[in-house]
Amino acid sequence: MARKVIADRVSKLGGEGAFVVQKKVAMLRREGKKIVTCHIGQPDRPAPKPVVDAAIKALEDGDHGYTPSGGKLEMRETVAEWLTKTRGVEYNWEEICITPGAKPAIFLALLATIEAGDEVIYPDPGYPTYGSVIPFLGAIPKPLPLVEELGFRFQLDQLEKLITPGKTRMIILNSPENPTGGVLTEEDMKGIAELCHEYDLLVFSDEIYSQLIYGEKHHSIVQQPGMKERTIVMDGHSKTYAMTGWRLGFAGGTKETARAMELLMTNSNSCAASFTQTAGRYALMMDQAPVIEMREEFKRRKDMLVERLNTIDGITCHNPEGAFYVFPNVRSFGKSSDEIEEFLLTGAAELGVGKDLGLDGVSVLSGTAFGPFGAGYIRLSYANSYENLELAVEFMKEAFAKL
Ligand SMILES: Cc1ncc(COP(=O)(O)O)c(C=O)c1O
Repeated sequence: MARKVIADRVSKLGGEGAFVVQKKVAMLRREGKKIVTCHIGQPDRPAPKPVVDAAIKALEDGDHGYTPSGGKLEMRETVAEWLTKTRGVEYNWEEICITPGAKPAIFLALLATIEAGDEVIYPDPGYPTYGSVIPFLGAIPKPLPLVEELGFRFQLDQLEKLITPGKTRMIILNSPENPTGGVLTEEDMKGIAELCHEYDLLVFSDEIYSQLIYGEKHHSIVQQPGMKERTIVMDGHSKTYAMTGWRLGFAGGTKETARAMELLMTNSNSCAASFTQTAGRYALMMDQAPVIEMREEFKRRKDMLVERLNTIDGITCHNPEGAFYVFPNVRSFGKSSDEIEEFLLTGAAELGVGKDLGLDGVSVLSGTAFGPFGAGYIRLSYANSYENLELAVEFMKEAFAKL
């Protein structure tokens, strides 16, 4: 009999739908098919030129070595200042850990704080990593349903019902949210903070889209009294500065959580790349015009997309307040979200859809790629050109008419 090689814990990890669709799109394109991609969660532009220049200069200046595992001291100082400025809550460098992308910050923060058997509440539909890492650590996942009618926020009493006193350890928050674009209000934060104090809970606050807010300003749970000490707040460069491939993120917490994450970094990645930290530090300190310009362009696309999706018979699309996703409700078509994902990518063209547009498919993600409560929805990223998005909606209009 073949010897078992892979440890059982690996079977607890989930994949990510976006990467599966990414591969399918690559194969269709190799066959010469024209696909408009709306499945990818990354800005459709390069990092700002001054940041690229700062990275090149860093390399030319000899920035080639390891850094301390928690990050360069000056990078940690700059992140602390940036968090202090953007959240209005005082951080110092010893409370910061720099990570190679924001995703490792999720993994390491949970690894540092969650014991096997703990219950962890997280948003559903939500970023797939949460529901994957929680069981990987032997903890118990408690999905918190997001409600379309509430702008994909959640009811506080629903949250309270999920708390098991003495067993629930942590709530994961993600505002603005992937995949829904939902944004939590200051009132929500107040209510969540009260529950955290009452039941002695920690928070992991994924704020990777903090700079992509279209309505009211960003609210962070750390702004609530006594919450900084209970929270690991995560943010990073991937979305704000269009630096997904550079792998740079960071977490702010207490000295204790930063030290634990630093030790985990020593034992896993050693450190985030030195020259990206130098350039990333520059990004946080530079004139933020490129960020503002990108946000305005995203808003323009979102408004068009939401308006036009809502003109398609059978679709309702909430107008999101943040991130760069829309999450239309497609329940009325009587097909599963997975079937609709496949239909828009390949099936519709087989029925002749898109011929006049010169388009063979649109890649979207099934809402269930983000958890069971995503059933009945699809996610479209509007990190694509305005013109391509117009084309995508035209294609969808024709395609849905055939369902
Ligand atoms: C909610 C959320 N958290 C974390 C990440 C990971 O960010 P990074 O690419 O910096 O690891 C993403 C990326 O899509 C995300 O959507």
